[in-house]
Formats: sequence, C-alpha cells, structure tokens
Amino acid sequence: MLSLGLKTSRGRLVACLAFASVFFAGAARAEDGYRLWLRYDPLPAGATREYRARVTSVVVQGESATMQAARAELVEGLKGLLGASVPAATQVEGDGALVVGTLRSSAFVARLGWGKALAALGPEGFRIRTVKLGGRSVTVIASSDEAGALYGVFHFLRLLQTLQPTNDLDVSQKPRLRLRVLDHWDNLDRSVERGYAGRSLWDWEALPEKVDPRLRDYARANASIGINGSVLNNVNADSQSLSAEYLKKTAAVADAFRPYGVRVYLSARFSAPIELGGLKTADPLDPQAAEWWRRKADEIYRLIPDFGGFLVKANSEGQPGPRTYGRDHVDGANMLAAAVAPHGGVVMWRAFVYDMKPGYDRAGAAYDNLQPFDGRFAPNVLLQVKNGPIDFQPREPFHPLFGAMPRTRLMPELQITQEYLGFSNHLVFLAPMWREFLASDTHARGRGSTVAKVADGSLNRQRLTGMAGVANTGTARNWTGHHFAQANWYAFGRLAWNPDATSQQVADEWVKMTLTRDPPAVTSITRLMLESHEALVAYMTPLGLHHIMWGGHHYGPAPWENQFDRDDWNPTYYHRADAAGLGFDRTKTGSNTVSQYHAPVRARFASLSACPEEFLLWFHHVPWGHRMRSGRTLWDELAHSYQRGVDWARAARKSWDSLAGSIDEERHAAVARKLAIQERDAVWWRDSVLLYFQTFSKRPLPAGVEQPQKTLEEYKAKSLLDVDASAR
Ligand code: GCU
Repeated sequence: MLSLGLKTSRGRLVACLAFASVFFAGAARAEDGYRLWLRYDPLPAGATREYRARVTSVVVQGESATMQAARAELVEGLKGLLGASVPAATQVEGDGALVVGTLRSSAFVARLGWGKALAALGPEGFRIRTVKLGGRSVTVIASSDEAGALYGVFHFLRLLQTLQPTNDLDVSQKPRLRLRVLDHWDNLDRSVERGYAGRSLWDWEALPEKVDPRLRDYARANASIGINGSVLNNVNADSQSLSAEYLKKTAAVADAFRPYGVRVYLSARFSAPIELGGLKTADPLDPQAAEWWRRKADEIYRLIPDFGGFLVKANSEGQPGPRTYGRDHVDGANMLAAAVAPHGGVVMWRAFVYDMKPGYDRAGAAYDNLQPFDGRFAPNVLLQVKNGPIDFQPREPFHPLFGAMPRTRLMPELQITQEYLGFSNHLVFLAPMWREFLASDTHARGRGSTVAKVADGSLNRQRLTGMAGVANTGTARNWTGHHFAQANWYAFGRLAWNPDATSQQVADEWVKMTLTRDPPAVTSITRLMLESHEALVAYMTPLGLHHIMWGGHHYGPAPWENQFDRDDWNPTYYHRADAAGLGFDRTKTGSNTVSQYHAPVRARFASLSACPEEFLLWFHHVPWGHRMRSGRTLWDELAHSYQRGVDWARAARKSWDSLAGSIDEERHAAVARKLAIQERDAVWWRDSVLLYFQTFSKRPLPAGVEQPQKTLEEYKAKSLLDVDASAR
C-alpha cells in the first residue's frame, strides 16, 4: 500500500498514509468493546468507493463547542469509514460537499428556505437532504439548533456504518420524547447500586480538577443515540450531592457533557434541608424549607445554567419524603418544582411507592398512592413510573397508572441494567420487552391508547414528555460488562427517540455498527438477540411468575424464600404455590388490583380463559391440572417452558461458536464465556424451580424435560451468585 502511495502524486500519498495509519491502528487496537457502536473501521471497498464520491469535502459551519464536536465526529468518522481523510472546507466548492449547519450558524443553510420545516422539527430535529446546486450535488445536514445538527451528523454516519444508500437523501426526524434520560444509581463512593460493569464513571474524588476523558466518550455515545440527560447519582440519594463542594464537581461533569447536548440532573434527598441546611424540618409546607430549596436551586443554576432538574424517590423503601411530615406527594413535588421552575428545570417524581399493610397487594400500591393526585402536579413535574407494577421483572404487564392519570405527565422508567435479568452475565436484548410495554393498549381513550402515545404526549396532549432508563454503564472497559449489554443502552436511546422503532431494526443497526456486517452473521446474531428475552423469561419466570429471585442481590432463583419480615420481599408472597395450584389471584376473588385497568384490559386479564398465558400466573391462582392452550396441563407447560429456556441457551452457544470467523477473537471469546455461564444458570433455574414447585404439584416431570442435576436441598444451600466468582 505504501509503495503504491510513493509512486503517485503528493495528495494521493497523504491519503494512502492516512489510510495506512487507520488500518494499522485498527489492527493493533484491542477489540475490548470500548468503542461501542462508534467504531468507524474501514467499510468494504465497494461501499468506500461509492461514498467517497458522494463526500468529497466536509463543510461544518459554526464554531460553538457543539458544532466543533459535530465536525470532529464527522472528520474522524469519515476518515475511519472511508479509509481516507476527507478535507474540511469552509465553503461549498465542488461536487460532493457535505454541509452541516443551523439556520443561524450557516449562511448556506439559511439560504435554502427551510426555515419553516426546520422550525417544525424543533431544536433537536434535523433534515438531511441531497440538493442540486448549479449542477453540483451537495448533502446538507441542517437543523434549527445545534443539538439537531449533531444528531444529524450521527445519523449520517450511521447510514454509512450500516451501508445505506446516500445518493438521494431526504430524511427528516425529530425525537418523539423530550427528555431522554439515563438514571445512574451511582453512589458517591463509586459503588453502583445494581451495577454490574465495574465502578461509577464519576470519579468524585478527582473532580473537579481532573475530568476523566472517558466522560467525553460517554457523552458522545449518548448523543449518537439521542440521549440528552443524565442523572448522576442514586435515587437512594446522599444529601452531600447537593453540597457546595459536590456541586462544583457536578458542574465539571456538566461542562464535559454540554457540547454533546447531555444535561445533568441530580437525585435530591428530600431531607437535605435538615442534613445540609441545618433546618429542623424538611416539611414542604414550611417556608424555610421551601426557601432552602429555592436558594439551592439558584446556587446550582449559577454553576450549571442548563441543569436539568431533580429526580426524587420519596417515601419509598425508607427514603424520606413529604409524608414523613404529614404532607402528600403533590406538596413535595410542587415545592421542589417551584424552586427549579424559574430556571426552566423539571422535577421527576418517582411513583415507585409501596406500603406494606397486611393482606395488601404490592402490585396495586403505586396506583393507590399516586392516582388520586392526577391533575394536581405542577406543570414542570413528571411522574416517573416503572414499566410494570412490581419492579423490573423479566416480564410484567404494563403499569396501570399509564392509563389512569391523563392530567399528569407520565414518564416511563425502564431498567437497562439487568438487576433481575442475570446481571451482565446473560445475553438478553431488551428492546422486545420495551416494545411490548410501549405497544400495550391502556384503552384509556378507547382502542389504540398505547403506552407509547401516553409517553409521547399525543394521547393527552402534553408537551413535556420523557423516558428514563436505569443505566448499565460503569468503568468496565466495554462499559456494560457484557458486550451485548451495550445493545440495551443503544436500544434505550433509539426507543426514547422513536418508541415505534422495531426491535428488529434496532438490533440490525447495532449488530452492523458494533459486531459485523457479514450478512449471514448479521442474520444469526439478530435472531439470537430477538429470541433472547422470550428465552430468558422461559427459564426464569414463565407464564407470569415474578419476583422469585434470591433476595437482596436478585441473581438466581429462590422461590422457597420466605425469611424477610416484609411479606412483599418474599418470593412465596408472589407465587403462592400450594397443593391446589400456582399464581397470585389479582381478580375479584383475590386482591382485585386488576380493577386498576380499563374495562377491556381488565376483562381480558381477569378471565382465566382470555388472559394472555404470559400473564396467567400474574393474575390468577391456577390449578396444576389446568388445561393450557397447548393442551398440556399447567404443570407440564411450566416444565416444558423451563426446558425450552435451557434448550435455547445451549443452541445460543452453538450458534455463537459457529460465528467465530465473523467476529474478532477477543469479543467472540468474551461472549462465549458469558454464554457458558448463561447456560449453567438456565439449568440451575429450571432444576431448582421445578424441584421446588414439584413439592406442591406432586406431579412427575413430563417426557422431554431433563431430570435435575442436583437436589432441592443443594439448590437451597447456596445462591447461584455464590457458586463461583464469575457470576459477580
Ligand atoms: C428496586 C431495587 C433497588 C432500588 C429500587 C428503586 O427495588 O432493588 O435497589 O433502589 O428498585 O427503584 O428505587
């Protein structure tokens, strides 16, 4: 390659050298997953030829930090993908110019007459078009504001990365939701609650003097998928996060994120006025407490003018809140909302509130606690509601609040980190689970009132909308522990941008950008990903079972557990196995929390025959001999489901092994190691759960279901997490 360069003109030589350096850098680079989906390695030769003709120069107009970030991304991205530097220019001169700008930053964009169209797309939307100007073909990435231009750049690079045609582009996009936020459950000591990918990315001790360059890559990755907010600290918050000392640190983080359009938010501990301010009370109706928050907000905004606002876990799992002072959720949320409102901030008030009274059904608690307040929250409050009524289980029906608070801005909270889904050991692609949730029909305004329409504000005509994902990132070199867990971070961003995006589309993009573009390999990997959630449910919690994980850490099964003082922390509370059958009766004959759904949904869930079988044991206590749609008894169906899950885990390993030639050795081997753990765990789940439920059903395992590898006592003796260190 070099000798070819030496024989040619100087310009060509430079290009070849650049290509060589990218190539060699690529070859030497460890395939440790650090680059996520932003890999920018050379595309196949045919594609490179075609794209090079279309992109002969890059003209990014605007000098702000965001426009500089857009330029840097484009220059680096094109250099890598096309294997040669594309010159950056200030003017559109030849055929194949790629122009990026906003109405304000670019005279070129301003002259196109797109003002109205761009205004309609909003500050984060963008238009990408091929335009002909005096016989020249120019690609334009335009937006009314800089964030949109940056998103447009990432979109354009994605088109190249996924080998899409770019010769006649006409793309207009805008995000369907306004706040697309990652919630980090990170503590100030850098431990991460429910984190399985190393420590917290925020090095509080070194901040603000030292800002880890990795924070820029974190922000870049988020911007590339449209995530525009990051709550830095755990919802089980420490007041210290709001101290003057820590706010300076947070400001340094905000500075690092800002060019990428990512705003910072903080979780606020409700009792901070006492702990930090020395007040006697944090009663939201106490003028001094309210004044303390107002001043605190002023202090924050002086340091961080674009601070997003507060996330609050109040009166939940021991956290303080307005009820500590005899007030209610509206009093608390609106007091904080008033403090940030003058600065344009928001309050994300969590609906994860559940009390435990004897005989109570936890699945109904959030509804009972929050629904009565519909219409009373201040305009800058969003109620952040988990996707299901319990707690991030492998599968839950949608939370009834989504159909029940039309005058409140409801913000879905999803969990990207796999607390109940095998930590960062199990390959499970979560887009299908989230799509199932978003496509659920609440029937709140008749048929078609999907959760997605509640979330994007279209059903209840709301403009302030959002979606939160509990992050799965950490200091692990590959960010998320499992290489495939990166896909869940990616999918969260893509679905928050467009809740109607299909899982197939998201998986396909991610695989091509991250792992391989080899068509047969793409097909088998996307298939694996798309099957994985159903398979995990099959070997963990089929047919509507839930919360039967080992207490505390939630890794592995413990359906027998009933040691916790609180009923609702015990698996036995949830599955209710007895000699008659299995499952939680949430119909009229039981807790009747099914009544929290609108009539058509309620009727379906409440009927033993009409209830979708994936939710059967969620809503019904079902006799062991009940005939399922397959013709099998409940017991046999359950056993077959667990076996199916195990079969899948084995098949997944084989299928992955066969891909050895299509994926670099390093990542291939790392995933193979994880898949081995996943298979072991699936077997463990099958055996221990079936052995335990068999003590009630007294039925034999049906033909085709393997005999258990250990005894029930052995499974009970040690949690799966403690079997070997690899699970940690
Ligand atoms: C779950 C999780 C906790 C977390 C809580 C929450 O219960 O196990 O670690 O604090 O959810 O969402 O607040």
